[in-house]
Amino acid sequence: MIVTLDGPAGAGKSTAAKALARRLGWRYLDTGAMYRAVAWAALHRGVSLEDQPAVADLADTLEIRFDADRVLVDGHDVTQAIRTQDVTAATRRVADAAAVRDVMVKQQRRIAADCHIVTEGRDQGTVVFPSAELKIFLTASAAERARRRHRERTACGDQVSFATILASQQARDDADAARPVGAMRAADDAMLVATDGMNEQAVVEKLVSLVISCGGQACP
Ligand code: DC
Repeated sequence: MIVTLDGPAGAGKSTAAKALARRLGWRYLDTGAMYRAVAWAALHRGVSLEDQPAVADLADTLEIRFDADRVLVDGHDVTQAIRTQDVTAATRRVADAAAVRDVMVKQQRRIAADCHIVTEGRDQGTVVFPSAELKIFLTASAAERARRRHRERTACGDQVSFATILASQQARDDADAARPVGAMRAADDAMLVATDGMNEQAVVEKLVSLVISCGGQACP
């Protein structure tokens, strides 16, 4: 069974998708990490982000692997490196390239073949797995998402203002939604889950109940 979990940054997708997969004993796929890994490799190897065919060729030859919570590119642990601001900015450009998206979509479908999986991203329910048994679009109001991000960043000693976070989140939402290919949007048949006022546990319980109501079961 395939469960897709799409939605904007800061809605709590990663935490929810990981926890849901763990609860079910299913595989978890972080497709954002795949785009980030390609961006990291392009920066690392000096491939111009303007040269979309070259970035797509690079994406096609990379071995992106997930090992528990680690992300490996050609055996190199990039778990931390793909979360830097430089890589985040480059990832947006990589994710805009239709040729790169083609490569990623094929890889994601290959990874999901013959297993129960929770797959997280922006286009999983719309483009990659249009026949998924359950599609979830996880969201929260812009203010709530920015509040969560602000709390996380200030807890790490970062002095960033709430207004800055809100503005960059809006820019990211706009870019994700305006992408000509693979734009972020809820599939017509997606279940919308708004997480305002819900804690992580409540969100996971809600998702588990949706999976069960669609006939999904935890692996023994
Ligand atoms: O979920 P994230 O923040 O790690 O995603 C990183 C970037 O990749 C973000 O700009 C959205 C983009 N992305 C995408 O275009 N399609 C996906 N399936 C997943 C992420």
